[in-house]
Amino acid sequence: MSPRKKPAPKKLWAGRFRGKTDPQVETFMSSLAIDRRLYRQDVAGSIAHCRTLERAGVLTRREADKLVAGLKQVEKEIADGLFRFMPAHEDIHMAIEARLTELVGEVGGKLHTGRSRNDQVALDLRLYLRDVVKDLLAGLRRLQESLVALARRELSVVMPGYTHLQRAQPVLFAHHLLAYVEMAERDKGRLRDALRRIDVLPLGSGALAGTNYPLDREYAARLLGFPVVSQNSLDAVSDRDFVVETLAALALVMAHASRFAEELVLWSSQEFGFVELPDAFCTGSSMMPQKKNPDVPELIRGRTGRVYGHLMSLLTVLKGLPLSYNRDLQEDKGPLFDAVETVQDSLGMLASLVGSLTVRGEAMARAAASGFLLATELADYLVLKGVPFRAAHAIVGRIVRDRLDREKGLADITLDELRSFSPAFEKDALDVLSVEGALERKVQIGGTARKRVEGRLKVWQREFRAEA
Ligand code: ARG
Repeated sequence: MSPRKKPAPKKLWAGRFRGKTDPQVETFMSSLAIDRRLYRQDVAGSIAHCRTLERAGVLTRREADKLVAGLKQVEKEIADGLFRFMPAHEDIHMAIEARLTELVGEVGGKLHTGRSRNDQVALDLRLYLRDVVKDLLAGLRRLQESLVALARRELSVVMPGYTHLQRAQPVLFAHHLLAYVEMAERDKGRLRDALRRIDVLPLGSGALAGTNYPLDREYAARLLGFPVVSQNSLDAVSDRDFVVETLAALALVMAHASRFAEELVLWSSQEFGFVELPDAFCTGSSMMPQKKNPDVPELIRGRTGRVYGHLMSLLTVLKGLPLSYNRDLQEDKGPLFDAVETVQDSLGMLASLVGSLTVRGEAMARAAASGFLLATELADYLVLKGVPFRAAHAIVGRIVRDRLDREKGLADITLDELRSFSPAFEKDALDVLSVEGALERKVQIGGTARKRVEGRLKVWQREFRAEA
């Protein structure tokens, strides 16, 4: 004989039904595998709800205490891995309530007074996102710090700046890194802004219309640390804008991460040779013995599509949903959780990569010294001598064309040669043909002059200290 199995739990909504749920339907509908990770939030929300019911006189002090103790016990069972999840539980809310009632008996049936899973799940999700956004902000901040540290360490390194992936003008490597620090700062700003709309209490909205019980929603908000309560019950149970906003912010985080990842892939190629990735972050080839592949940045680049996809899938779930709650909304959590995890992992990996990068400053300097990166300096020199910029541009263009034809660069051009293109070139013309000089002249706010970059580094360090 097989050991006695625990019977499937009775549905908490079974009263109206004669027939049983088809087991295949049960499996199809169940969100437990995904939403079980909300158990802490669900318990915290239920505890606050108990206390609000107590304050409203719906529960006695003793009843509320009993429920709260039971909820803590359920939370512990789940945390300790002792909880038996079953598809018949449908979702985490039902699973917890069912177990609570097993533990505390009849009073368990009072927990859901004046509440619906609709306002409950909206609450859980907001509680979850509130914490997650804080973690994401910390992850972005750690990436910023690693970029700033590398920029400081490699402050002397000059590299070619690119447009169209063609060598354009020399820039400080530190300046290039700090561009990503700016992006991450905007990412943080977007998440902080989303947080303002996440941080709203939906509990007390009931299934859709509000609640018959004199629940002090502002009290519940205080218990859970929400600064604001939602003002329309229909909106509160069907709103997932805050999830979309978070996903949109995360999509941009990944866009930035992916651009940086792409640069690491390029820079670590033999064609560039600007950096070397640590062995610990690379793999070899099963066939070609010489290979060292940049898998980690490639996967960050590759996983960006997942996060974009999750944003699109949630927008599509919401499109055309009539008010208020519809079961479609259950599909919000899978995409959200996966996006959050992907971004957290990617940010962590990038920060570690940045921290252990070997920078080949000489290769960068060599690349910055060839390829006519100083042509613009020469044109600007002519402007100083009174030549209109368009004319100066054309003159230097002809010089470049001529040097290319003769397979030469700008480095060894003579004054006579310059003067054969324009009499405006004077003795000091050759002085502008230095990378250092070119950098130093970009001294306006936002430019790549060393002084400016150092200034910006200081600002970031001060900001991180103030944030800490
Ligand atoms: N598992 C559901 C969700 O995630 C919870 C709310 C279900 N509400 C309902 N009335 N069926 O959206």
